[in-house]
Amino acid sequence: MAEVVIVENRSVAGALVADEIVRLIDTIPEPVLGLATGSTPLPVYEALRERLDGHDVSHLRGFALDEYVGIDPAHPESYRSVITREVIEPLGLDPELVRVPNGAVETIEHAGDDYEKAIADAGGVDLQILGIGTDGHIGFNEPGSSFASSTRIKTLTQQTREDNARFFDSIHDVPQHCITQGLGTILRARHLVLLAFGEGKADAVAAALEGPVSAMVPASAVQLHAHVTVVLDEAAASKLRLADYYRYTYANKPAWQGL
Ligand code: F6R
Repeated sequence: MAEVVIVENRSVAGALVADEIVRLIDTIPEPVLGLATGSTPLPVYEALRERLDGHDVSHLRGFALDEYVGIDPAHPESYRSVITREVIEPLGLDPELVRVPNGAVETIEHAGDDYEKAIADAGGVDLQILGIGTDGHIGFNEPGSSFASSTRIKTLTQQTREDNARFFDSIHDVPQHCITQGLGTILRARHLVLLAFGEGKADAVAAALEGPVSAMVPASAVQLHAHVTVVLDEAAASKLRLADYYRYTYANKPAWQGL
């Protein structure tokens, strides 16, 4: 089962995950990081900024989970812009080594296969950061997504468009389509680290971790993976039946075990 770590707040969560990423950067010759966008991973990226001084990141590769289809890459809310602003620039990464799925309409038919090949050529993702949607999506794999899916175009649900309207002037500006790593792609990463904060995520987190494995809750795919860490604040953990067990397990974790 996933290791569930319940922490006081977002910054503690960010620090915990950032420490693990620094460990990867220092120990793996060509580390590959799977990058999420949205609000959830921001504390991780902030904590990384404070920790990367003196560490060699010239070899660090990154693959974003998703991108809107048809959005101008220069739009401030394209995931290419978000990754540049929140990750590449502040962390001093080589932009050539950080990829975001190509949402250009003209090339969309083969963009998914191109992305899968790029991930495979890089040797696969070592650590994949994930957020979770209120409808249980990871990446933009909306309910009903195949657990075997690879990077492809998806239609965003109305709920996801409403959730993401806060980044745009209005919901009408939120694109209807996206290109996202599939659940199969995500499951191929060697370590999944899912973060969630706030009460609004509590139902989705409980369904994903303690409900049945079901395409109706795409994040429940993490139950099929052998190495998953879930980092939650109290509010996001508030509907977990086994919360006390997760706390007990983490408090008694052998010192030699990493995340
Ligand atoms: C973003 C992504 C999505 C978000 C999810 C939660 O790249 O793949 O799955 O992680 O929509 O979004 P936030 O973090 O904004 O609540």
